[in-house]
Amino acid sequence: MNRAAFAQRVAEAADLVTVALDALLPRGEGPESRLTEAMRYAALGPGKRLRPFFALETAKMFDVEERPVLRAACALECIHAYSLVHDDLPCMDDDDMRRGRPTVHKAYDEATAVLAGDALQTAAFEIMAHPDTHEDAEVRAELVRRLAVASGAKGMAGGQMIDLLGVRDDLGAVARMQRLKTGALIVYAFDIPLVLARAGEAERQALTAFAQDLGLAYQIVDDLLDVEGDEDLLGKAAGGKDAAKGKANYVTLLGVDQARERVAHLSGQAKGRLDLFGERARFLRDSVDFVLDRRN
Ligand code: IPE
Ligand code: IPE
Ligand code: MG
Ligand code: MG
Ligand code: MG
Repeated sequence: MNRAAFAQRVAEAADLVTVALDALLPRGEGPESRLTEAMRYAALGPGKRLRPFFALETAKMFDVEERPVLRAACALECIHAYSLVHDDLPCMDDDDMRRGRPTVHKAYDEATAVLAGDALQTAAFEIMAHPDTHEDAEVRAELVRRLAVASGAKGMAGGQMIDLLGVRDDLGAVARMQRLKTGALIVYAFDIPLVLARAGEAERQALTAFAQDLGLAYQIVDDLLDVEGDEDLLGKAAGGKDAAKGKANYVTLLGVDQARERVAHLSGQAKGRLDLFGERARFLRDSVDFVLDRRN
């Protein structure tokens, strides 16, 4: 598969998710419509929808029907959108641009951005827990529980805390931070098909290890783009903003060249994790290079 064909497949999945999210997110009437508009602005903006893409593609590998995966992937995307709204706030990364447009607190105001993040988070759980997601309440509860863990103090939010503290003692601490702040939600993208397919332990372990490597590599690439990326293509600030803000990451600790080597190593390691699946995982294996070779 060439890059154009891959990009086409990602774009198709992104469209599917955006249409579904549009239908799932509330539209307000009355004064609270400012909040629902801000939620929609954040979630329906031109994101890559990478996490839903992986959930949908992996579900095909397990022959899981699309409808529940799509709902669960929309819930995950709501959490991701909320994480970005809060990540951009002046009290966190203080960013003005996201996905090529003003961040939510710039387009609205800070209090609205806080509330939009809050309400996107609860929307995620509302969508996931709804009987339309899956007929079996135990399956829904398992999807909800795992999403809560991936988003919370031992997942994304915990990682964001460590990021803000600028912990820089060693690479192990930084790796842990990345695993929590970015890895946990990427791992969750694979949890969706794993739970829905009632996959076995060996398959779970292999895919989770794959997702952890991919998630770490994805964040290192993000950190490289912060140094080397083109702001117009990225749609967000670059120019070494992380280092200027005292962030610790693979690039600030190791430098660009070694960080790039680390990405190459993780990419090879990730693909090897899928040996168990043989040809079934061919697309997933191929997708690693495309995803990591990103400009935006
Ligand atoms: C940005 O995530 C934050 C990171 C974890 C690196 P994405 O790169 O998936 O951003 P969007 O959703 O495409 O805007
Ligand atoms: C964000 O990491 C990770 C989240 C959990 C939101 P960054 O702060 O590096 O993401 P960008 O560069 O703002 O997208
Ligand atoms: Mg951040
Ligand atoms: Mg940020
Ligand atoms: Mg970044």
